[in-house]
Amino acid sequence: MLNIQAIKKDFPLFEHEKNLVYLDSAATTLKPRVVIEAEKEYLERYSANIARGLYPLAEKATKKFEMVREKVATFIGAESAREIIFTSGTTDALNLVARLLTSQLAAGDTIITTVMEHHSNFLPWKELAKKNVLDFRVIPLTEEGTIDIEILKKSVDEHTKIVALSAISNVLGTINPVKKITTLIKNINPNTIVIIDTAQAVSHMPINVSEWNADFVAFSGHKMFGPTGVGVLYGKLSLLETLPPVSFGGGMVLDSCADETLYKEAPYRFEAGTPNIGGIIALGTAIDYMESIGMENIQTHEHALTLSALKRLQETFGENIHIIGSTHPEKRSGIIAFTLGGIHPHDIASVLGEYNICVRAGEHCTTPLHRSLGLHTTTRISFSIYNSEGDINKLITILEEIQTIFNK
Ligand code: ALA
Repeated sequence: MLNIQAIKKDFPLFEHEKNLVYLDSAATTLKPRVVIEAEKEYLERYSANIARGLYPLAEKATKKFEMVREKVATFIGAESAREIIFTSGTTDALNLVARLLTSQLAAGDTIITTVMEHHSNFLPWKELAKKNVLDFRVIPLTEEGTIDIEILKKSVDEHTKIVALSAISNVLGTINPVKKITTLIKNINPNTIVIIDTAQAVSHMPINVSEWNADFVAFSGHKMFGPTGVGVLYGKLSLLETLPPVSFGGGMVLDSCADETLYKEAPYRFEAGTPNIGGIIALGTAIDYMESIGMENIQTHEHALTLSALKRLQETFGENIHIIGSTHPEKRSGIIAFTLGGIHPHDIASVLGEYNICVRAGEHCTTPLHRSLGLHTTTRISFSIYNSEGDINKLITILEEIQTIFNK
């Protein structure tokens, strides 16, 4: 059991917004004080550039920065810190993989993704396929809101170069069986590169990329209690070592003259330019913070809230509420998207907002998914460690009011 009152004290926003009910952690999590302080400490006390300066402040910044690489590697079960590339977020990480893999494509290859993907794990693949005139396949959902594994099985063959999917859908909340899917794909074609968008999973469940046997894994700092503008791309070292850089500049070169350039080894060859140093150091603090609570404890807490919210929403609104996604709660994370009667999700979110209840309404950057379900927009709630049953109570009370007002 998490001590929610104590956890809320870790987040300064709750001091400034006394009645805040924050149910939009899938968009971005709130930031604990320790994370804010870590970034501030870098900016105030040792804000030198990394991997360049020979003076103590620069050495301190470099050491702290590289320690985060080690920390991230351990946190996600990577075999080496050299498998961790810092990016500006999940979108940047997935676009980087798409550019990195351009050199690996050949005529006749196919690229596969699923209809449940966020635009950031859909459009880079669609564009890559289009540019290289490759076959682009989109795996549909089962009626339950899970990836149709049978269709996936039939779609993977000796031509499949890339399969990209999410660990958790940002709308359906579906938890995809990543290890099972990766094994299935690699049994059919061991050369297929499997890419996992872990943005909605990384702060909600323990992750082990080595167990998954994924080739690339992407996630954002700001969805795991860290700052915006930082993210991670994990890549299997054996693969990274074969890939040429795609972005060029300072920090990634060993030697260069007019005729020839010698690039650093992975991951540094993929990190041209000065990164968000303070943000990445604060990301390390965010990992410490999550570990101090325990990833299993976080998962258990959010699962209990999800079960309760699903039950309460269905009991209260009956046939008027349409919950999108799996009807099996054990397959869901703490993300619940729904429609309520004929009320526009933007109206629902705006009225909830007046009571300082924060939810997201719209397509949630998943137009293909919404279109495939015949929906335009949905309202979405999403849980994190600072949410409680009290938040569900307040949500339901105001949703009941909204239903009464809009059905008059
Ligand atoms: N990807 C984020 C969301 O689903 C922004 O809300």
